[in-house]
Amino acid sequence: METVVSGIRPTGNLHLGNYFGAMKNFLKMQNENNCYFFIADYHSLTTHPTPGDLHGSVKQVLAEYLACGLDPEKATIYLQSDVREVTELYLLLNMNAYVGELERTTSFKDKVRKQPENVNAGLLTYPVLMAADIIIHNAAKVPVGKDQEQNLEMARKFARRFNNMYKVEYFKEPQPYNFGEALIKIPGLDGTGKMGKSEGNGIFLIDDEKTLKKKVMRAVTDSGPTEMNSKMPEPIQNLFTLMDVVSEKSTIEFFKEKYASCEIRYGDLKKQLAEDINAFVDPIREKINDIKSNDAYLRKVAMMGAEKARESATKTVKDVREIIGFKPF
Ligand code: TRP
Repeated sequence: METVVSGIRPTGNLHLGNYFGAMKNFLKMQNENNCYFFIADYHSLTTHPTPGDLHGSVKQVLAEYLACGLDPEKATIYLQSDVREVTELYLLLNMNAYVGELERTTSFKDKVRKQPENVNAGLLTYPVLMAADIIIHNAAKVPVGKDQEQNLEMARKFARRFNNMYKVEYFKEPQPYNFGEALIKIPGLDGTGKMGKSEGNGIFLIDDEKTLKKKVMRAVTDSGPTEMNSKMPEPIQNLFTLMDVVSEKSTIEFFKEKYASCEIRYGDLKKQLAEDINAFVDPIREKINDIKSNDAYLRKVAMMGAEKARESATKTVKDVREIIGFKPF
């Protein structure tokens, strides 16, 4: 069993794209690997949340992941800030992270451009903290999207540099987790492209029935097919892709036939799709709310996770201190 680490930023809510994407992968990983999943709450301080917002978003994201099936019996689920050893490893790694290479990171340059009023040192050293998160458990694999590949590459670099500096083979160089089969890409409701949180085209697991209906009814369509058996343009295909994951086969067939014979009414299709999405997310939404109102359960999950994560982190930091030369008299 390989050790896998993944950090979850406590920002935004899960949408259907996340559910059928990253979440499906997490559920698979937790069955097959020794997984550490944590809420990256130290990282989120770079954006200066208020204490209330910080706590609220950590709770929300934890409840959503648990409701989707992340299992504290299978994986170690914890809050980053509960494992202080991470901050010590971060400090130690900082001594060997060069300002020049950190300044050249794409995500840092992006932040400098987008928020010149808050270019704090935490942003600069974000990849160092992320490396500490990963190598503190000596992870072999990290599931990463395109936007995190460079950060993972830096984690490898910092791990290698430590090994070279102290002439040890202590840290593994963490590799990207490869998922075998390709996942279904969930499209957004705006005609083209996939569902995303910044695109404003998402259906969130916590959207109530009314919100969800409104979003689906506003989805982009066209004026309808004019020729029998014509090929569907992307916006229409997208509605069918959504149906594929939430609707009955017979429902999908019914609307496909209507489309082929040019008798389709997009209003009817959307109404059905909204109903089916609602039926699909309803139990998840209910579970999120149940978990959110159960502080005792959340506390138990967090405590259990912190204990397991600290066990592995403490061992690493102890070894690293020894390798570096901190020795008791
Ligand atoms: N940087 C990641 C993101 O923005 C979150 C993260 C923090 C992370 N530490 C990590 C991911 C360690 C994987 C491993 O999504």
